[in-house]
Amino acid sequence: MTALAKPIQSPPPAASVPAAERGGKVVAYVTDAATETALRQAAAQLLVSEFEVRRGDVRTAARDLARQRSPDLLIVDLSGIELPIGAMEALSQVCEPSVTVVAVGDRNDVALYRNLRGLGVAEYLFKPLPADQVEALLGRAAGTAGRGGDTGRQGKLVAVTGARGGVGATTVAVNLAAYLADIDRRRIALVDLDLHTGTVALHLNLKPGRGLREAIEAPERVDGLFLERAMQPASDRLDVLATEEPIVPPVAQNPRAVLDLLDCLRGQYHYVVVDVPHGLSETARAVLDHAALRIIVADGNLAGARDALRLRGAFEASGTARQTLTVHNRRGAPGALSQADFGRALGSPADCAIECRPKPLVEAATLGEPAIRRCAPFKSDISRLAGAVSGQSANGAAGLLARLFRSGKAAR
Ligand SMILES: Nc1ncnc2c1ncn2[C@@H]1O[C@H](COP(=O)(O)OP(=O)(O)O)[C@@H](O)[C@H]1O
Ligand SMILES: [Mg+2]
Repeated sequence: MTALAKPIQSPPPAASVPAAERGGKVVAYVTDAATETALRQAAAQLLVSEFEVRRGDVRTAARDLARQRSPDLLIVDLSGIELPIGAMEALSQVCEPSVTVVAVGDRNDVALYRNLRGLGVAEYLFKPLPADQVEALLGRAAGTAGRGGDTGRQGKLVAVTGARGGVGATTVAVNLAAYLADIDRRRIALVDLDLHTGTVALHLNLKPGRGLREAIEAPERVDGLFLERAMQPASDRLDVLATEEPIVPPVAQNPRAVLDLLDCLRGQYHYVVVDVPHGLSETARAVLDHAALRIIVADGNLAGARDALRLRGAFEASGTARQTLTVHNRRGAPGALSQADFGRALGSPADCAIECRPKPLVEAATLGEPAIRRCAPFKSDISRLAGAVSGQSANGAAGLLARLFRSGKAAR
């Protein structure tokens, strides 16, 4: 066990950021008085204004943060935790992607340090915490927290669009978002970009809000607080931004404002799922160009396959090396192409097929509830799509370590 004996290197000295410029909220969960005192002293020394210590460990933090907004810097105690990686996994499920996480613990263990760093944990310090290390840590964190940028942890932007109108794009977007929130336990923002006739709010029995229009017309007002007011909760992890603006006059296009809004959301959610209306407006094109993953939904007729193929071709021609998935929806509908014929028309098999199930989908739409909660076979189809989106196999075994605190790290 030579690795255990090797001391962990101290972090470099604190960056010399003037206290007045420091921003960001720091919350620490620690199990003992000595660690609390060390942190309090360092915070006072560095004039960290928003600093809070709560007694508890990483599990307490996960419980609290499931119900509260994440701070900018979160310090959690791993002392006495038998399976620290598992505990960190549970924490990552409830944290916003932009949070910087620092662990403290009672084990001087290089393997643990490496594993935690590999998961996206910014630093691991073992007790008793040396004053200089704590000051260096808080100094750097306070200098960068709240500026949203250097953690590299941003949620993934997923754009869902129909090859044609009426093919089930909104159904797929809503149920994919609900699956990622309910089953994968990720924080999801679902945005309906059809400002006039969108149906996301109807699918989820929500009243359309004003936030989306305000964000497009006054982008300078969009920040964390604005989003907190504008997002409508559809479940504990699924928040929605949808509106129902009058048909005339139309809201002016402002692709830049929409992209900025989506980037802002990526700091707070693991996935930002966007229902991009069919028709390729300027904004729709910009969002599809910007997304890390594009999902083209087509139903199983010849025109659907043709237009999915054309859309895919247009994405490839745009030169951006982003992932595109094609969904063959309403498979088996009367008069529709067989799966094989659909694949032939498309030039290659669809990435995912969803069976035609009119009855449960009509029932779900009437009740304003995602169909995955009422129809197990439909949920199973959506689970395969969600697996492709999250990079997990259908049984959920792949990529466990890589997911923590770094969902869509380099991707948008
Ligand atoms: N797999 C499916 N099986 C049966 N009906 C479906 C399926 N997917 C969508 N639908 C139905 O098709 C209609 C159009 O769906 P919607 O999601 O609004 O399409 P879009 O957003 O592409 O215009 C809705 O009535 C919806 O319930
Ligand atoms: Mg739609």
